[in-house]
Amino acid sequence: MLNFSVKEADILFEVLKARRDVRGNRFLSKPISEEHLDKIFQAALHAPSVGFSQPWKFVSITEEAQKQKIFNIFIEENEKASELFKDTIYSDLKLEGIKEAPVNIAVYYSQKEKAILGQTSMDQVGEYSVVCAIQNMWLMARALNIGMGWVSILDSEKVNAVLKAPKDHKLIGYFCLGHVSEFLDSPELESLKWEKRKNKEEIIFKETF
Ligand SMILES: Cc1cc2nc3c(=O)[nH]c(=O)nc-3n(C[C@H](O)[C@H](O)[C@H](O)COP(=O)(O)O)c2cc1C
Repeated sequence: MLNFSVKEADILFEVLKARRDVRGNRFLSKPISEEHLDKIFQAALHAPSVGFSQPWKFVSITEEAQKQKIFNIFIEENEKASELFKDTIYSDLKLEGIKEAPVNIAVYYSQKEKAILGQTSMDQVGEYSVVCAIQNMWLMARALNIGMGWVSILDSEKVNAVLKAPKDHKLIGYFCLGHVSEFLDSPELESLKWEKRKNKEEIIFKETF
């Protein structure tokens, strides 16, 4: 049985705290090595999943033409979003790195064909499992000093069409990955005063809310 030291736990916490959402203005064109990409996928494969169903699928995208198609979908969706945030700094924010990042990865939930142990009352737990895999990738990427950013301002139907996703597959997240010029010390949305980090008292309750 592996027993970790407090020092090792501290290192894990350092990685957790240092993980950032990385956007286009910080990606470098330097390619990600196959070895590093493999480690990131291995991290995903070791995530927990309901009934050990491992309901995840990954599409890696490196061709400029494919990235451009996804970028066009982002532009269209972001224009709609800008309307909701008029009179804010929204339109000045860089919210993706689709073209700048050498690798994009679309992560899918592949719907169950049979009953899954544990997925009998809350159907969404299959999708939650995919999110666990995503977080593993994000942390492993950071431990390898590779930046990763989530792009959710996308029309999933249009992304599915570009990636020729099978009908029973659901897009969970679209990610940009690459080496970076820097990792910010704190979330950009915090330093721009868009949101503040919540403190424990606001979110942790005892016995009941
Ligand atoms: C589900 C999810 C969707 C997100 N979508 C976007 C996005 O579309 N564009 C973006 O710039 N950041 C996106 N983010 C990143 C968040 O803005 C970021 O995680 C948050 O501001 C905290 O910053 P940090 O990840 O650097 O700690 C997303 C994060 C999550 C978890």
